[in-house]
This record gives sequence, structure tokens and C-alpha cells, in this order.
Amino acid sequence: MHKKSVRIAVAALALTALLSSCGRGKLPQYDYEIDMKDYKSAVTVTDKAYLILVNKQNPCGEDYAPENISAVPSELTLYGKEVKLEANAALAAEALILELHARGYTDIVATSGYRDYAYQQILFNTYLGNEMAKHPGWTQDQCEAEVLSYSARPGESEHQTGLCVDLISINHPSLDESFAQNAAYEWLTENAHFFGFILRYPEDGEAVTGYSYEPWHYRFVGVKAATEIYEKDVTLEEYSK
Ligand code: DAL
Ligand code: ZN
Repeated sequence: MHKKSVRIAVAALALTALLSSCGRGKLPQYDYEIDMKDYKSAVTVTDKAYLILVNKQNPCGEDYAPENISAVPSELTLYGKEVKLEANAALAAEALILELHARGYTDIVATSGYRDYAYQQILFNTYLGNEMAKHPGWTQDQCEAEVLSYSARPGESEHQTGLCVDLISINHPSLDESFAQNAAYEWLTENAHFFGFILRYPEDGEAVTGYSYEPWHYRFVGVKAATEIYEKDVTLEEYSK
């Protein structure tokens, strides 16, 4: 190659590297109440790994586990229980909850994060038992279909990725649609993306996501993807196409 062409090619490569590194570490234009210094690099990750799609059509496998796991500080979890997440998702969840508290939504904490295959199995079986007790006239298949509208089978839950967190109000500690009645909910729907989270199972999204509305379940994808998903008003399934 001609010397000048080489120089141009090198300069182009350097520019590309610079531009792609800008995604990470650059916070969006948003008036954060909390100091984002310790959270900035976590919430702005752009690695494709954070876009992993796990659903009924895309199971992650029995042995799948996040590479780095850390715990959300216990003062930000329900009754101080252990809630673990993938390391950057844990920092982002911490920032999100601290911001909620700083804005006066002090009742919101984390209640569930990373769940391994075995734990999801226990949950799924518990729900199945509950449905069978509730509907004595139903077959096991009917009960299973009911459970599948709100709980993933083991291997099909994105909780196994450690990239999603269930939030809850300490004033109404139940995970159901009443979460949407909390004052924090409206703020979350408009602002969670500034912390890299999306509302993963929106109202009327069941045909696409496979699950009914879960106003409490937030999935971490990083600020860039979360903002695009928020602005396009799409699900992760649609965004991943
Ligand atoms: N509730 C969600 C769908 C899960 O079980 O992963
Ligand atoms: Zn959840």
C-alpha cells in the first residue's frame, strides 16, 4: 500500500476506536440527583453480552451463569435479603435505587436478581402446585399453561443471566400489577433507561415477550441500548431482530 494510504487507514482505525470507546463512559443528558462517579462506567457498558436474549424460544442452558456476580447492598434490598446480579448490573441497580430514594421514592428496594437453574425449578414447581390447588378441575397441562404466562421454566428465565432485577415497595411488598400503583412506577417508566434498564414485560406485550405485564421487572442492557429501546418503544425481542 502507498505510504499516504497507510497513514489514512491508520488514522481511520484510530478514529473508529475512539468513537466506539465514546459509547462507554458517557452519561446521557439527564439531571442525576446522585453522584454517578462510581456508577458511570457500569451503566454505560456497550458490550453485546448485555443484550443477551433469554426467553421461551431462546433458553440459556442449565449451566449458564454470569461471569462476575456481586450483591446489591443489603440496605437496598427487601428486609436486607441477598440479591445478586451480574457485577455491572448490580452497580446500575444500586444507582437506580439510590436515585429513586433521592427523589423521595424511599419505599423501593430490590427483591430478586440472579436466580440459578435449580432455584428457578423450585419456583416453577411451587407456582404449579399453587395453580393445581387453586383449580382442582384443571389438568396439569392447563395449570402449566397458566404458570407459563407469568413464570419462566428453568433455563428460560432471564433471571439466570443476572441482568434483571425485581423491584418492590416495602409498603406493599407484593409482586403483582399493583406495583404500577406506586408513585415510583411512573418515574421508572420514564427514567429507568438513564440507568441502563428497560421495563422488560410491558402491558399488552405477552404476544411478543411470552409473559404478562410485570411492572416490577427491569432488565439491564446499558444506557445506549436502553435509551434506544425506550425511544423506539419496543421490546427486547423486537430490538434484537
Ligand atoms: N417472571 C419472569 C418471566 C421469570 O420467571 O423469569
Ligand atoms: Zn423478574
